[in-house]
Amino acid sequence: MIRKKSPKRPIFYGVLLLLILFVGTASVYFWQFRLQKPVEINMAHHGHGSGSVSEADMHDHSPKGISCESITAKETAGPTRKFDLTAARTALQLDNGQTVEAWTFNGSSPGPELRVTEGDRVVVTLRNKDIQDGVTLHWHGINVPCSQDGVAGVTQEAVHPGEQFTYVFVASAPGTYWYHSHQMSSVQAKKGLLGSIIVEPREKSAQLSTAKEVNALYQRLNSSLLLNGSAKGLDVPGQAGERVRLRLTNGDNETMNFSVDGAPFRIIAMDGRDLHEPGLLERVTIPVGAGQRYDLLIQLPESGQVIVRNQSGKSLSIALGSGSVPQQTEGGAMFSFVDYGTALQGDPIPTLKPDRNFVLKLGQSLFVKTINGHSFHEIPPMNVKEGELVSIKLVHEGGGDHPFHIHGHTFRVVSKNGIPLKGSPIYLDTLLLKDGESYEVQLKADNPGLWMAHCHNLGHASQGMTMMMNYDGISTPFRVGTKSGNLPDL
Ligand code: C2O
Ligand code: CU
Repeated sequence: MIRKKSPKRPIFYGVLLLLILFVGTASVYFWQFRLQKPVEINMAHHGHGSGSVSEADMHDHSPKGISCESITAKETAGPTRKFDLTAARTALQLDNGQTVEAWTFNGSSPGPELRVTEGDRVVVTLRNKDIQDGVTLHWHGINVPCSQDGVAGVTQEAVHPGEQFTYVFVASAPGTYWYHSHQMSSVQAKKGLLGSIIVEPREKSAQLSTAKEVNALYQRLNSSLLLNGSAKGLDVPGQAGERVRLRLTNGDNETMNFSVDGAPFRIIAMDGRDLHEPGLLERVTIPVGAGQRYDLLIQLPESGQVIVRNQSGKSLSIALGSGSVPQQTEGGAMFSFVDYGTALQGDPIPTLKPDRNFVLKLGQSLFVKTINGHSFHEIPPMNVKEGELVSIKLVHEGGGDHPFHIHGHTFRVVSKNGIPLKGSPIYLDTLLLKDGESYEVQLKADNPGLWMAHCHNLGHASQGMTMMMNYDGISTPFRVGTKSGNLPDL
């Protein structure tokens, strides 16, 4: 018998397809919702297995031990530098003719460059004009006291329209840093709530005191990649033989590769921390992870320009000096810090034994980004005690580049893929992990508080790759979740 093709078949498959689509979309939403929008979480006590907090923890607003809120800047003799930053919705006219709906500080994105000197007492009053979800300021890379770290629901309440919050901290370490909102960070950084903060050293070496300062902050505003707020490149005049200190900051979510044509150069600092005896480099590509900063020292040649190219944004080159344009390097080797510069004599770290060891596996599952298989508040925190030497092994297990950032601390990179570093000591606050890489980093637990540790692809953080490093005995009166509206990494 010949079976006639049933006319119902296409309908059946159509319905099945719709059903699959529906279930798929619904589960994505379910996971995202469950993850990003818990009702109420105490980030000082969470993630003990199930992800639920005990009733006692939920409702205990009388802090046990020391509250993060009470840990403030120490008195110092340094001069006070005051700044005001007001967050507001602004229709920004870009120099490529586009108008974007941005969120700005003092009417611009990036916000004003804050430039202070090592030892200064920095006082910044944040006001929110009309950003409904509230805003905060996080001082990325600066080791501020817990109450000044700007993480909504952990160190403070988000600052709502009409409200203000004054940050006070000492700029104790010179370097290139940046600030950004840490309320709904993946949304608010892209909307424009970020800027540079540069701490100049109190004393500069002869080489650096005569160098021209050039700051280059890259960001993605909505979808446009910008350099210092411009959609065009940067043109810096200069004389032959002149030295330029170029401070590169990646405020986007993706890794940016830079090349330098026209002169050899040195990488003199990473994440604001000086390198020891950095050598001359030529024809290398520098991978700058999201959140990272690289400071280059470039001496302008006798004739012609130096061009620093951002390979992610071809039009966003930095041209230094004048004259002929150098040829573009093709296929330069990737810069690696593992053997760059020279080791310090009598360097103690490699022989010290850590008091605590953690392993963080950065990966992903179906709809979420994970650390050790869990996401966000379901990841048990790293619990440490003041004074301990803490070792953290970071392992990349898929899901794209993971620039891993730890708040409140500068960590030292000890080894890569099991091999100890050979060159300059490398101190970072954000470490870029690429496919299959593993690193050991060590830090001194010298800043009691509750500290976020997360991927600085803020999209990944919002998908769950964010956790805490908590000191024993520190509590917080603040809560993350839909009840308070504090959603630091949404
Ligand atoms: Cu630059 Cu938790 O961030
Ligand atoms: Cu990531």
